[in-house]
Amino acid sequence: MVQREQWGTRMGFILAAVGSAVGLGNIWRFPYMVADNGGGIFFLVYLFALLTAGIPIMILEFGIGHKYRGGAPLSFAKMNRKFEWLGWSQVIVCFFIAVYYVVVIAWALSYFYHSFSLGYAGDPAGFFFGNVLGLTDGPFELGGIQTQLLIPLAIAWAVNFFAIYTGVKGGIERLAKILIPTLFIMVVIIALRGSTLPGSAAGLNFMFDPDFSRLFDFKVWTAAYGQIFFDLSICFAIMITYSSYLPKRSDITSNAFTTCLTNCGFSLLAGIAVFSILGHMAFTQGVAVNDVAGAGVGLAFVTFPAAIATLGSVAPLFGMLFFLALALAGITSLISINEAAIAALMDKLALDRKVVTVIYTAVAASCSLLIATGAGLYILDIVDHFTNNFGIVFGGLIQVLLVGWFFKLKSLQDHINSVSDIKAGSWWVFSIKIITPLVAGYTGIMTLISDIK
Ligand code: PHE
Repeated sequence: MVQREQWGTRMGFILAAVGSAVGLGNIWRFPYMVADNGGGIFFLVYLFALLTAGIPIMILEFGIGHKYRGGAPLSFAKMNRKFEWLGWSQVIVCFFIAVYYVVVIAWALSYFYHSFSLGYAGDPAGFFFGNVLGLTDGPFELGGIQTQLLIPLAIAWAVNFFAIYTGVKGGIERLAKILIPTLFIMVVIIALRGSTLPGSAAGLNFMFDPDFSRLFDFKVWTAAYGQIFFDLSICFAIMITYSSYLPKRSDITSNAFTTCLTNCGFSLLAGIAVFSILGHMAFTQGVAVNDVAGAGVGLAFVTFPAAIATLGSVAPLFGMLFFLALALAGITSLISINEAAIAALMDKLALDRKVVTVIYTAVAASCSLLIATGAGLYILDIVDHFTNNFGIVFGGLIQVLLVGWFFKLKSLQDHINSVSDIKAGSWWVFSIKIITPLVAGYTGIMTLISDIK
């Protein structure tokens, strides 16, 4: 039996886990989720979701990986032979996410390049939908591969490939140790500059002002729970895989707290960076922030480029900083998504890491070319909607229900508490067994109903 690979240091593990959590979701998804869902009210619900779902599930997954020492399918199979399919279903979702996630990183890299000349400033929407995407009229009209995306796409796949090919400690950990601190410094610089610009206060008000009338709106709850699952990379096989490489003596609960709180702190920082600069743009144009804060993919690739262009002589520098930060945040998450799938295949087929990585990357990279066509954005939207609203909420729901109710949760709790300083007590059991299933079930069903309508 070959010894399972291990992280070199505790810090290395935390940085890799934070690298997975901190991603495109924090920089472009979080700010517009807040803006669309009642501002300050969203934070309140998000905090509730963090305490009752995010942190408890992170502890659960770290515990599962640490105790059973396998990727998700193997770990679930060791818990109960009938659970293996749950691991595979999470791995399949990972594969789908990887295929589009890498293309968004390629957009960011291409925007990094175009920041030198501010090529996107004149007509940001035309630039994004025309030059970068070559958008066709619908999902069935592919319109050919956008050749200018091939180099950034190849770069993203290459970095991902070498990290995983080199292995847990020498590749994934070493890269995270360099990229994550760099990323934090970059975002702090943008946030500091942003919040000292004229008009930034209006942007931050727009982000933080609570709209109390939406406290009981199920959309706000769905958005907050969906954001917590996606943001923290939980219920995706990933955190189970990463914690399966932990040494025997590892404090599970404090690692989970550190990972979750660092990630959410980063989201807040990114939100401040984005909204203060949007506030400044609204100020220079003499309009309300409401009128400039476009949602969705458009926030990072249409609205934000326009905002960057209002920064004067430092605009190219800040453009490069922002889009490089976006790409770096994405890369460490991409690696974790692919590692979850590759580890599962290695466990199952008893094959060497290098062989699996070569074959897996060839297949996934070929599939990602589909998203680099003129129909890519339509396909991305469909996959994203499906994985986010159903995959995540229902996937998460099934996981907590199975593990919470059809498995001896007590044995896992004892395992976690035997190695941790902070104990997972009754609040943890109550969150896993009752609160998360209730809220995730309710929001999932409500979304399904509103989708059918
Ligand atoms: N957590 C990452 C982010 O915030 C994305 C991610 C989602 C990573 C799902 C892995 C799995 O962008």
